[in-house]
Amino acid sequence: MKTFVLASQNKHKAEEIKKILGSNFEIKTMYEAGLSNFEIIEDGNTFEENAAKKAVSVFNEINMPVIADDSGLCVEHLGGAPGVHTARFAGENASDSENIDKLLSELKNVPFEKRAAKFVCVIAFIENSADNIKYFRGECSGFILDERRGISGFGYDPVFYYKEYEKTLAELGEDVKNTISHRYKALKKFYDSLK
Ligand code: IMP
Repeated sequence: MKTFVLASQNKHKAEEIKKILGSNFEIKTMYEAGLSNFEIIEDGNTFEENAAKKAVSVFNEINMPVIADDSGLCVEHLGGAPGVHTARFAGENASDSENIDKLLSELKNVPFEKRAAKFVCVIAFIENSADNIKYFRGECSGFILDERRGISGFGYDPVFYYKEYEKTLAELGEDVKNTISHRYKALKKFYDSLK
């Protein structure tokens, strides 16, 4: 079984990635790989740049195959924002709830049909050389509601409405989310590339 280190400190993402890929690979968190206090500054202008930065930083420490996820929310009415700033939308160290409040206030009085958004996930994969990074992108389209619904998932899931199922990602629950999400789609491309 192939082993990869996941270059992410985000526990929720790590759980999702383990659930999606877990039966086929051994996925070690940075903590499990012995990198517990490792800070990576995400200052890239694109998801690809940030994912690469995470993957390269961790690969240079441990010299093992690494996957890194950089993801975020792009809202049409906000010109694609918050994009790479999604985690810090309401400020450095903002909580998920503070970020949602900021998003809802930016979209106040905007009608439903103008609240289109997409989640983007870019997986950067380094197998044996930091000069050879492979990228896999997944997107999930939906709409931002004007209130929270549902309790599962993380981040912006309670306000991200998936029209096909008429529910937010937080109402759909992780099993369904993991068949339609941006992360699932990027990981599926990654998985297929290894076959
Ligand atoms: P990153 O850790 O820098 O990639 O930040 C990702 C940001 O996007 C965080 O604010 C996450 O909460 C948010 N995000 C990424 N993926 C998801 C998701 O699947 N659901 C909800 N929010 C997400």
